[in-house]
Amino acid sequence: MADKKIIAILGATGYQGGGLARAILNDRTGSFAARALTRDPDSEKAQALAKLGAQVVKADANNINSLRQAFDGAFGAFCVTSYWEHFLPEKDLAQASNMAMAAKQAGVKHVIWSTLEDTRLKVPLQDKRMPTLMEHYKVPHFDAKGESDKVFQQSGTPTTFLRTSFYWEDFIYFGLGPKRQPDGTIALKLPIGDKKLPGIAAEDIGRCAYSIFRKGVEFIGQTIGIAGEHLTGSQMAAALTRALGETVRYDAVTPEEFREYDKPAAKDFANMFQYISEFEKDFCGARNVESSRGLDPDLLTFDRWLAKNKDRIPLT
Ligand SMILES: NC(=O)c1ccc[n+]([C@@H]2O[C@H](COP(=O)([O-])OP(=O)(O)OC[C@H]3O[C@@H](n4cnc5c(N)ncnc54)[C@H](OP(=O)(O)O)[C@@H]3O)[C@@H](O)[C@H]2O)c1
Repeated sequence: MADKKIIAILGATGYQGGGLARAILNDRTGSFAARALTRDPDSEKAQALAKLGAQVVKADANNINSLRQAFDGAFGAFCVTSYWEHFLPEKDLAQASNMAMAAKQAGVKHVIWSTLEDTRLKVPLQDKRMPTLMEHYKVPHFDAKGESDKVFQQSGTPTTFLRTSFYWEDFIYFGLGPKRQPDGTIALKLPIGDKKLPGIAAEDIGRCAYSIFRKGVEFIGQTIGIAGEHLTGSQMAAALTRALGETVRYDAVTPEEFREYDKPAAKDFANMFQYISEFEKDFCGARNVESSRGLDPDLLTFDRWLAKNKDRIPLT
């Protein structure tokens, strides 16, 4: 342990950081050690990581001093914000800034910043094709991350910008999955028309990040996009049909319809799907599946993800 390079992991008790922590801990002979950062070292998830061999350290992304201490002595840091806990882009921006500054002050040699596009670079606020949200954003949970790329660049911290994809787990937890309709049929309703949505098994994000840390300097300064597959709504519905053994229909609802759904952040999601669809070529092009498989040879396809998770998708 003592001779291993420590990776300090934000979000270690969550999807992305958890995948990275497990990838490091499962590679017993590897040259990295996992330091799991959490606000609550006593939580069940933090304790489970400790049992696997992680060093568990208390830190809060809202407190730069706690991050500075938690990064101390670390070779690398995995930085991710938790937008869906607060729904506040300004909080994401402030936390990202704390992470970048703390990493710089602690002399971290390689940061991976989990980011997404700033959609305003292609759809400026005055563009009427989608509503402006919270006065300053088109897709708040994307824009704040994309804008935060600058603080990592300006901090001078050696950083890899990791552009993630839609987790297929959103079909389980985010209410975005197929639902049984009043007539008894099952429909997957997404506002992506006939365009492709890059998706990924959440655990694979951390496994790709681990590979980036292992490969090291070749990725510093680069933006790397990852996805397990790029699939249309019809292709996802066909895969769901095969997995569930019951027909799942794809309904290409409009972004306008989706905005009015009774879901948290329906407007943010509608703008996100509209952006992904309208800029399909660039968005998919920025998330190459083969190079993702190069990072993570066991990268799941949607069919393989469904084989493991189909029973967890709530249809009601
Ligand atoms: N869902 C998707 O399809 C998708 C796709 C791409 C990107 N994303 C982005 O992924 C991010 C969330 O990542 P995730 O899904 O891996 O997380 P998650 O599973 O939702 O878990 C949240 C993690 O953030 C940590 N955390 C929250 N607030 C913190 C704070 N103040 N200080 C330190 N740690 C804090 C939590 O740790 P403790 O509770 O242990 O402190 C926990 O580990 C969001 O910003 C979202 O926009 C989501």
